[in-house]
Amino acid sequence: MPDKKTNGPANAVREEAEEFLTLDYNNLTSEALGEGKGLDQEDLNELKGLLNAAHKDVEARYKKGSLPFMDLPKSQDTPKAARKLAEMGRKKFENIVVLGIGGSALGTSAIFTALKPLNHNGLSTPKRSWPRLVVADNIDPEGFSAILEQLDLKTSFFNVISKSGATAETMSQFMIVYDQLRRTLGKSAIKDRLLITTDPENGVLRKIVDSEGFMSLPVPPGVGGRFSVLTAVGLAPLAMVGVNVTDLLAGAARAQEDARKPPPGNKAYAFAGLNYLLNVKKKKNALVMMPYSDALARVSDWFGQLWNESLGKATRLDGAPNPHAQTAYKAVGATDQHSQLQMYMEGTDEKTICFLGVENFRTQVNIPTIFKEHEELSYLGGHNLGELLNFERLGTARALTENGKANFGLILPKISTATVGYLIHTLEVATVASGSLYGINPLDQPGVELGKKFTYGLMGRTGFGEFRERYDKGFSNKKKYVVKTPPPAPVKKG
Ligand code: PA5
Repeated sequence: MPDKKTNGPANAVREEAEEFLTLDYNNLTSEALGEGKGLDQEDLNELKGLLNAAHKDVEARYKKGSLPFMDLPKSQDTPKAARKLAEMGRKKFENIVVLGIGGSALGTSAIFTALKPLNHNGLSTPKRSWPRLVVADNIDPEGFSAILEQLDLKTSFFNVISKSGATAETMSQFMIVYDQLRRTLGKSAIKDRLLITTDPENGVLRKIVDSEGFMSLPVPPGVGGRFSVLTAVGLAPLAMVGVNVTDLLAGAARAQEDARKPPPGNKAYAFAGLNYLLNVKKKKNALVMMPYSDALARVSDWFGQLWNESLGKATRLDGAPNPHAQTAYKAVGATDQHSQLQMYMEGTDEKTICFLGVENFRTQVNIPTIFKEHEELSYLGGHNLGELLNFERLGTARALTENGKANFGLILPKISTATVGYLIHTLEVATVASGSLYGINPLDQPGVELGKKFTYGLMGRTGFGEFRERYDKGFSNKKKYVVKTPPPAPVKKG
């Protein structure tokens, strides 16, 4: 629902920084990249009209109530419930374990990694004053059993998160954990150790909550998985490991205020519009999100899902084919300068690199002034690692620009709970605005659904036999086109 004028949480963080996020797109222009390679003045003029149209469209959908994720920064009940759980969990538990996948896991991992010390789980108490967080988002038997083996079930709290309650990965994890808890601690102990976050009315998990009386929190109707990190999906586990969810929402609320302002002074829409033009006009159909920060490294995983599941659509809303989509990829600086950068510099020219940077790091590590006699090392002494990392980012951006390769910066003044909340909400609005520009529905994921149906068929779920048959039929040639090492030739005797 549309908001009313409020003095809400956004004001609480207003003083923190003038700008929570800067979008610097100098290196996307033909002025910087060379004639024909970047966006020229004509494109930038066109951008204004495009952004106004997208803004009008998103605002209309928001006012109709079809974009409820946009109101999440103002929610009160969920953060309250999350804080209450956190108080309880801090006293009783050492480990908070999320069982969920995709939108039920990636946002939590991204924010946890951004806001808690990177060694949080490895610290022992009293240095670590909140429980550890384990996000179990895969079903690899070796990975999942390794997670379970290292947990003391007595001091572990499990948060099963599935909006649909139908996701095979999460449901099988839930069944395994439920069974282990029952066998190890007895059925009565499960209730204190299990929180189920799911649809408020539908799905098998809701039925189980109702019949077994488990603790539960709702995923608000109309908020899809990848837009749900600021619901109980993310807020409950994050609060339970000591993230200040009030500040997180306050930062997001500030982003929401900014994102509702008309373009051009609107970062969410500028992000959407620039990428749209680069794709449609300059064939930049790949967007590499490259944080220069270990803390923000998982943001690119979260963003990858948000962008790809939302925008990878074959059909437009008017039924016409959607010829354009821009795939998001991830890289991390400076690490991937030494693995992927050569391809970005001199390889095929379909990529735009988004540098996600941090002006001031929370920790400073000085490089000692030693080995002065070696010119190859002496230039490093007296600097610090944050400076080096930022110069690597700036140097790489400059080198890409000189090579005519599109790149832009999304820069946080610092990593704080509020700036991370701002970043998350801005990128969510940018994704929905991109949906408007392409004329597609960014809120569904029909392609993902088909794969799930084949899995159900292969696992023998009632009602999905057709998919088993289709699978078998599709693989009638499976023996013919397989590469195998031929058996060794028989050794000739004599
Ligand atoms: O964004 C989405 O909707 C998906 O990625 C879902 O989050 C993912 O498939 C998990 O679904 P669920 O929460 O229903 O288990």
